[in-house]
Amino acid sequence: MLVWVVLVFTTVLSVHMWLWSKGLLLSRLTDIANISEEKNLPFVMWFGPSPVLIFVDIDDVKAVTNAFVDKPYYYSFGKIWLGEGLVTASVPIWKHNIKILSGTFTSSVVAGYQSVYNAQAQRLVSTLRARAGAEPFDALHILALVTLETICQTALGECGVSERIVSKEYYNAFDRAVTLLMARGLNLLLHPDAVYRLTPGHREITNCVGLMHSIADTIIAKRRKEWDEKKKQGLKDAKESGNFDQTRFKSFLEILFEISERDPSMTPQQVRAEVDTILVAGQETVATALFYALLMIGCHSDVQHRLYSE
Ligand code: HEM
Repeated sequence: MLVWVVLVFTTVLSVHMWLWSKGLLLSRLTDIANISEEKNLPFVMWFGPSPVLIFVDIDDVKAVTNAFVDKPYYYSFGKIWLGEGLVTASVPIWKHNIKILSGTFTSSVVAGYQSVYNAQAQRLVSTLRARAGAEPFDALHILALVTLETICQTALGECGVSERIVSKEYYNAFDRAVTLLMARGLNLLLHPDAVYRLTPGHREITNCVGLMHSIADTIIAKRRKEWDEKKKQGLKDAKESGNFDQTRFKSFLEILFEISERDPSMTPQQVRAEVDTILVAGQETVATALFYALLMIGCHSDVQHRLYSE
Protein backbone atom coordinates (compact mmCIF):
# COMPACT_ATOMS: atom_id res chain seq x y z
CA MET A 1 0.00 0.00 0.00
CA LEU A 2 2.77 2.39 1.02
CA VAL A 3 4.58 1.68 -2.25
CA TRP A 4 1.43 2.63 -4.20
CA VAL A 5 0.97 5.84 -2.26
CA VAL A 6 4.62 6.74 -2.94
CA LEU A 7 4.21 5.78 -6.59
CA VAL A 8 1.09 7.91 -7.11
CA PHE A 9 2.60 10.81 -5.19
CA THR A 10 5.88 10.78 -7.08
CA THR A 11 4.08 10.37 -10.41
CA VAL A 12 2.05 13.51 -9.75
CA LEU A 13 5.15 15.27 -8.47
CA SER A 14 7.28 14.28 -11.45
CA VAL A 15 4.61 15.34 -13.97
CA HIS A 16 4.22 18.61 -12.09
CA MET A 17 7.99 19.17 -12.06
CA TRP A 18 8.35 18.38 -15.73
CA LEU A 19 5.39 20.36 -16.99
CA TRP A 20 5.43 23.44 -14.79
CA SER A 21 8.79 23.88 -13.19
CA LYS A 22 11.80 22.41 -14.94
CA GLY A 23 14.18 24.30 -12.62
CA LEU A 24 12.67 22.75 -9.49
CA LEU A 25 14.24 19.34 -9.99
CA LEU A 26 17.76 20.77 -10.16
CA SER A 27 17.16 22.98 -7.15
CA ARG A 28 15.79 20.00 -5.13
CA LEU A 29 18.81 17.88 -6.10
CA THR A 30 21.10 20.72 -5.03
CA ASP A 31 19.31 20.97 -1.67
CA ILE A 32 19.63 17.23 -1.12
CA ALA A 33 23.31 17.25 -2.08
CA ASN A 34 23.93 20.14 0.34
CA ILE A 35 22.15 18.37 3.23
CA SER A 36 24.08 15.14 2.52
CA GLU A 37 27.36 17.01 2.47
CA GLU A 38 26.59 18.95 5.62
CA LYS A 39 25.55 15.85 7.57
CA ASN A 40 28.06 13.60 5.80
CA LEU A 41 25.33 10.99 5.41
CA PRO A 42 23.86 9.06 2.48
CA PHE A 43 20.42 10.13 1.31
CA VAL A 44 17.66 8.07 -0.30
CA MET A 45 15.11 9.48 -2.71
CA TRP A 46 12.24 7.38 -4.05
CA PHE A 47 11.67 7.53 -7.77
CA GLY A 48 8.34 5.70 -7.81
CA PRO A 49 9.17 2.24 -6.44
CA SER A 50 12.93 2.65 -7.09
CA PRO A 51 15.28 4.05 -4.47
CA VAL A 52 17.87 6.57 -5.68
CA LEU A 53 20.84 6.78 -3.32
CA ILE A 54 22.90 9.94 -2.95
CA PHE A 55 26.37 9.68 -1.41
CA VAL A 56 29.01 12.21 -0.51
CA ASP A 57 31.66 9.80 0.71
CA ILE A 58 33.66 8.22 -2.10
CA ASP A 59 34.14 5.01 -0.06
CA ASP A 60 30.35 4.60 0.18
CA VAL A 61 30.12 5.01 -3.59
CA LYS A 62 32.79 2.35 -4.08
CA ALA A 63 31.12 -0.10 -1.69
CA VAL A 64 27.70 0.25 -3.29
CA THR A 65 28.83 0.21 -6.92
CA ASN A 66 30.92 -2.90 -6.29
CA ALA A 67 27.97 -4.64 -4.64
CA PHE A 68 25.28 -3.64 -7.19
CA VAL A 69 26.45 -3.82 -10.77
CA ASP A 70 22.98 -4.04 -12.32
CA LYS A 71 21.47 -0.79 -13.58
CA PRO A 72 17.92 0.37 -12.69
CA TYR A 73 15.16 -0.48 -15.18
CA TYR A 74 15.04 3.04 -16.64
CA TYR A 75 18.47 2.59 -18.23
CA SER A 76 16.70 0.27 -20.69
CA PHE A 77 14.99 3.36 -22.20
CA GLY A 78 18.32 4.10 -23.88
CA LYS A 79 18.57 0.67 -25.54
CA ILE A 80 16.65 1.85 -28.60
CA TRP A 81 19.74 3.96 -29.35
CA LEU A 82 22.67 2.45 -27.41
CA GLY A 83 21.74 -1.26 -27.62
CA GLU A 84 24.00 -3.35 -25.38
CA GLY A 85 26.73 -0.69 -25.16
CA LEU A 86 28.53 -0.23 -21.81
CA VAL A 87 26.04 2.16 -20.21
CA THR A 88 22.86 0.21 -20.98
CA ALA A 89 24.21 -3.38 -21.22
CA SER A 90 22.84 -6.22 -19.14
CA VAL A 91 25.26 -7.45 -16.45
CA PRO A 92 26.82 -10.49 -18.24
CA ILE A 93 27.51 -8.45 -21.41
CA TRP A 94 28.83 -5.49 -19.38
CA LYS A 95 31.18 -7.70 -17.34
CA HIS A 96 32.58 -9.28 -20.49
CA ASN A 97 32.98 -6.05 -22.45
CA ILE A 98 34.30 -3.79 -19.68
CA LYS A 99 37.19 -6.20 -19.21
CA ILE A 100 38.24 -6.29 -22.86
CA LEU A 101 37.62 -2.59 -23.46
CA SER A 102 39.46 -1.31 -20.40
CA GLY A 103 42.39 -3.57 -21.29
CA THR A 104 42.61 -2.16 -24.82
CA PHE A 105 41.52 1.48 -24.48
CA THR A 106 44.60 2.48 -22.49
CA SER A 107 46.01 5.86 -21.50
CA SER A 108 48.58 5.66 -24.30
CA VAL A 109 45.72 5.38 -26.82
CA VAL A 110 44.12 8.48 -25.25
CA ALA A 111 47.50 10.28 -25.37
CA GLY A 112 47.46 9.68 -29.14
CA TYR A 113 44.38 11.94 -29.35
CA GLN A 114 46.25 15.00 -28.04
CA SER A 115 46.64 16.65 -31.45
CA VAL A 116 42.88 16.37 -32.05
CA TYR A 117 42.20 17.94 -28.64
CA ASN A 118 44.63 20.79 -29.34
CA ALA A 119 43.17 21.55 -32.77
CA GLN A 120 39.61 21.46 -31.44
CA ALA A 121 40.52 23.70 -28.49
CA GLN A 122 41.91 26.29 -30.96
CA ARG A 123 38.74 26.01 -33.01
CA LEU A 124 36.58 26.53 -29.92
CA VAL A 125 38.56 29.60 -28.88
CA SER A 126 38.23 31.18 -32.36
CA THR A 127 34.48 30.50 -32.44
CA LEU A 128 33.96 32.02 -28.98
CA ARG A 129 36.28 34.97 -29.74
CA ALA A 130 34.20 35.86 -32.80
CA ARG A 131 31.12 36.19 -30.54
CA ALA A 132 32.80 38.05 -27.67
CA GLY A 133 31.48 41.53 -26.92
CA ALA A 134 28.41 41.10 -29.16
CA GLU A 135 24.86 40.01 -28.33
CA PRO A 136 24.38 37.34 -25.60
CA PHE A 137 24.54 33.83 -27.10
CA ASP A 138 24.06 30.24 -26.03
CA ALA A 139 27.59 28.99 -25.31
CA LEU A 140 26.29 25.49 -24.52
CA HIS A 141 25.20 25.07 -28.12
CA ILE A 142 28.72 25.91 -29.39
CA LEU A 143 30.37 23.68 -26.76
CA ALA A 144 28.02 20.80 -27.59
CA LEU A 145 28.89 20.94 -31.28
CA VAL A 146 32.66 21.14 -30.67
CA THR A 147 32.64 18.25 -28.18
CA LEU A 148 30.52 16.14 -30.53
CA GLU A 149 32.99 16.82 -33.37
CA THR A 150 35.97 16.02 -31.13
CA ILE A 151 34.54 12.75 -29.96
CA CYS A 152 33.53 11.77 -33.51
CA GLN A 153 37.12 12.34 -34.62
CA THR A 154 38.65 10.28 -31.83
CA ALA A 155 35.98 7.58 -31.73
CA LEU A 156 35.57 7.19 -35.47
CA GLY A 157 38.89 8.48 -36.77
CA GLU A 158 37.23 10.68 -39.38
CA CYS A 159 38.80 13.93 -40.55
CA GLY A 160 36.72 16.74 -42.06
CA VAL A 161 34.19 15.55 -39.57
CA SER A 162 32.04 18.70 -39.55
CA GLU A 163 30.73 18.20 -43.03
CA ARG A 164 30.59 14.46 -43.14
CA ILE A 165 29.34 13.30 -39.74
CA VAL A 166 28.27 16.17 -37.61
CA SER A 167 25.90 17.53 -40.19
CA LYS A 168 23.12 19.75 -38.90
CA GLU A 169 20.77 16.80 -39.37
CA TYR A 170 22.90 14.47 -37.21
CA TYR A 171 23.46 17.08 -34.52
CA ASN A 172 19.73 17.89 -34.30
CA ALA A 173 18.81 14.19 -34.10
CA PHE A 174 21.45 13.64 -31.38
CA ASP A 175 20.31 16.64 -29.35
CA ARG A 176 16.63 15.77 -29.69
CA ALA A 177 17.16 12.09 -28.75
CA VAL A 178 19.00 13.09 -25.53
CA THR A 179 16.18 15.54 -24.66
CA LEU A 180 13.48 12.92 -25.32
CA LEU A 181 15.27 10.30 -23.19
CA MET A 182 15.59 12.78 -20.31
CA ALA A 183 11.93 13.80 -20.63
CA ARG A 184 10.85 10.16 -20.46
CA GLY A 185 13.10 9.46 -17.49
CA LEU A 186 11.64 12.38 -15.55
CA ASN A 187 8.01 11.50 -16.21
CA LEU A 188 6.90 8.28 -14.52
CA LEU A 189 3.74 8.15 -16.64
CA LEU A 190 5.95 7.52 -19.68
CA HIS A 191 7.97 4.71 -18.08
CA PRO A 192 5.86 1.69 -19.14
CA ASP A 193 6.93 0.68 -22.68
CA ALA A 194 3.31 -0.04 -23.65
CA VAL A 195 2.35 3.57 -22.85
CA TYR A 196 5.47 5.19 -24.30
CA ARG A 197 5.05 3.39 -27.63
CA LEU A 198 1.75 5.25 -28.15
CA THR A 199 3.27 8.71 -27.68
CA PRO A 200 4.61 11.17 -30.26
CA GLY A 201 7.89 11.13 -28.28
CA HIS A 202 8.40 7.48 -29.16
CA ARG A 203 7.79 8.12 -32.86
CA GLU A 204 10.20 11.05 -32.78
CA ILE A 205 12.99 9.22 -30.98
CA THR A 206 12.59 6.25 -33.35
CA ASN A 207 13.14 8.61 -36.29
CA CYS A 208 16.12 10.37 -34.67
CA VAL A 209 17.78 7.06 -33.76
CA GLY A 210 17.05 5.62 -37.22
CA LEU A 211 18.88 8.55 -38.81
CA MET A 212 21.87 8.32 -36.44
CA HIS A 213 22.13 4.55 -36.84
CA SER A 214 22.11 4.79 -40.60
CA ILE A 215 24.88 7.45 -40.56
CA ALA A 216 26.90 5.35 -38.07
CA ASP A 217 26.43 2.19 -40.17
CA THR A 218 27.70 3.95 -43.29
CA ILE A 219 30.78 5.29 -41.49
CA ILE A 220 31.54 1.97 -39.77
CA ALA A 221 31.27 0.04 -43.05
CA LYS A 222 33.59 2.52 -44.78
CA ARG A 223 36.12 2.49 -41.95
CA ARG A 224 36.01 -1.31 -41.75
CA LYS A 225 36.88 -1.54 -45.44
CA GLU A 226 39.75 0.93 -45.02
CA TRP A 227 40.91 -0.87 -41.87
CA ASP A 228 40.95 -4.27 -43.64
CA GLU A 229 43.02 -2.77 -46.45
CA LYS A 230 45.36 -0.98 -44.04
CA LYS A 231 45.81 -4.16 -42.05
CA LYS A 232 46.73 -6.14 -45.14
CA GLN A 233 49.16 -3.39 -46.16
CA GLY A 234 50.50 -3.13 -42.57
CA LEU A 235 51.20 -6.85 -42.39
CA LYS A 236 52.95 -6.70 -45.75
CA ASP A 237 55.06 -3.68 -44.65
CA ALA A 238 55.81 -5.28 -41.28
CA LYS A 239 56.98 -8.47 -42.97
CA GLU A 240 59.29 -6.45 -45.19
CA SER A 241 60.64 -4.11 -42.48
CA GLY A 242 60.37 -6.47 -39.52
CA ASN A 243 58.46 -4.13 -37.17
CA PHE A 244 55.03 -2.58 -36.51
CA ASP A 245 54.30 1.09 -35.90
CA GLN A 246 52.73 1.22 -32.43
CA THR A 247 52.72 4.99 -31.99
CA ARG A 248 50.18 6.05 -34.59
CA PHE A 249 46.71 7.42 -33.80
CA LYS A 250 44.25 4.62 -33.16
CA SER A 251 40.54 5.45 -33.14
CA PHE A 252 38.15 3.74 -30.75
CA LEU A 253 36.51 2.16 -33.80
CA GLU A 254 39.80 0.54 -34.85
CA ILE A 255 40.15 -0.87 -31.33
CA LEU A 256 36.70 -2.40 -31.65
CA PHE A 257 37.63 -3.89 -35.05
CA GLU A 258 40.73 -5.45 -33.47
CA ILE A 259 38.62 -6.93 -30.65
CA SER A 260 36.11 -8.29 -33.18
CA GLU A 261 38.92 -10.27 -34.83
CA ARG A 262 39.43 -12.39 -31.73
CA ASP A 263 36.06 -12.13 -29.98
CA PRO A 264 32.95 -13.23 -31.90
CA SER A 265 30.66 -11.46 -29.41
CA MET A 266 31.90 -8.12 -30.82
CA THR A 267 29.41 -8.30 -33.72
CA PRO A 268 28.86 -5.36 -36.11
CA GLN A 269 25.75 -4.48 -34.07
CA GLN A 270 27.79 -4.47 -30.83
CA VAL A 271 30.48 -2.32 -32.48
CA ARG A 272 27.82 0.26 -33.34
CA ALA A 273 26.36 0.09 -29.80
CA GLU A 274 29.78 0.78 -28.24
CA VAL A 275 30.49 3.64 -30.64
CA ASP A 276 27.07 5.24 -30.03
CA THR A 277 27.62 4.85 -26.28
CA ILE A 278 31.00 6.56 -26.33
CA LEU A 279 29.54 9.43 -28.36
CA VAL A 280 26.68 9.94 -25.91
CA ALA A 281 28.73 9.33 -22.72
CA GLY A 282 31.54 11.63 -23.79
CA GLN A 283 29.64 14.47 -25.42
CA GLU A 284 26.92 15.78 -23.13
CA THR A 285 29.08 15.30 -20.02
CA VAL A 286 32.10 17.19 -21.35
CA ALA A 287 30.02 19.98 -22.93
CA THR A 288 28.11 20.54 -19.68
CA ALA A 289 31.28 20.42 -17.54
CA LEU A 290 32.95 23.00 -19.81
CA PHE A 291 29.82 25.15 -19.79
CA TYR A 292 29.65 25.29 -15.99
CA ALA A 293 33.41 25.79 -15.71
CA LEU A 294 33.12 28.85 -18.00
CA LEU A 295 30.10 30.10 -16.08
CA MET A 296 31.90 29.77 -12.73
CA ILE A 297 35.07 31.40 -14.06
CA GLY A 298 32.93 34.26 -15.41
CA CYS A 299 31.28 34.68 -12.00
CA HIS A 300 34.64 34.88 -10.21
CA SER A 301 36.68 37.57 -11.91
CA ASP A 302 39.68 37.04 -9.58
CA VAL A 303 39.94 33.45 -10.83
CA GLN A 304 39.51 34.66 -14.40
CA HIS A 305 42.38 37.15 -13.97
CA ARG A 306 44.62 34.48 -12.49
CA LEU A 307 43.85 32.24 -15.46
CA TYR A 308 44.67 35.03 -17.92
CA SER A 309 48.01 35.69 -16.20
CA GLU A 310 48.86 32.02 -16.28
C1 HEM B 1 33.19 15.63 -17.40
C2 HEM B 1 33.08 14.56 -18.12
C3 HEM B 1 32.40 13.27 -17.71
C4 HEM B 1 31.58 13.00 -16.68
C5 HEM B 1 31.08 13.95 -15.59
C6 HEM B 1 31.22 11.59 -16.77
C7 HEM B 1 30.40 10.92 -15.88
C8 HEM B 1 30.06 9.59 -15.96
C9 HEM B 1 29.18 8.89 -15.05
C10 HEM B 1 28.50 9.51 -13.84
C11 HEM B 1 29.07 7.63 -15.47
C12 HEM B 1 28.24 6.51 -14.84
C13 HEM B 1 26.95 6.44 -15.62
C14 HEM B 1 26.03 5.39 -15.10
O1 HEM B 1 26.29 4.21 -15.31
O2 HEM B 1 25.02 5.74 -14.51
C15 HEM B 1 29.87 7.50 -16.68
C16 HEM B 1 30.01 6.34 -17.40
C17 HEM B 1 30.66 6.26 -18.60
N1 HEM B 1 31.37 7.25 -19.22
FE1 HEM B 1 31.68 9.10 -18.48
N2 HEM B 1 31.82 11.05 -17.87
C18 HEM B 1 32.55 12.04 -18.49
C19 HEM B 1 33.29 11.92 -19.64
C20 HEM B 1 33.35 10.80 -20.42
C21 HEM B 1 34.08 10.70 -21.68
C22 HEM B 1 34.90 11.82 -22.32
C23 HEM B 1 33.87 9.43 -22.15
C24 HEM B 1 34.39 8.78 -23.40
C25 HEM B 1 35.08 9.30 -24.33
C26 HEM B 1 33.03 8.73 -21.20
C27 HEM B 1 32.62 7.43 -21.32
C28 HEM B 1 31.87 6.76 -20.40
C29 HEM B 1 31.45 5.38 -20.57
C30 HEM B 1 31.79 4.45 -21.73
C31 HEM B 1 30.69 5.05 -19.43
C32 HEM B 1 30.04 3.71 -19.10
C33 HEM B 1 30.99 2.95 -18.24
C34 HEM B 1 30.42 1.65 -17.77
O3 HEM B 1 29.23 1.56 -17.43
O4 HEM B 1 31.19 0.70 -17.69
N3 HEM B 1 32.75 9.59 -20.17
N4 HEM B 1 30.47 8.71 -16.94
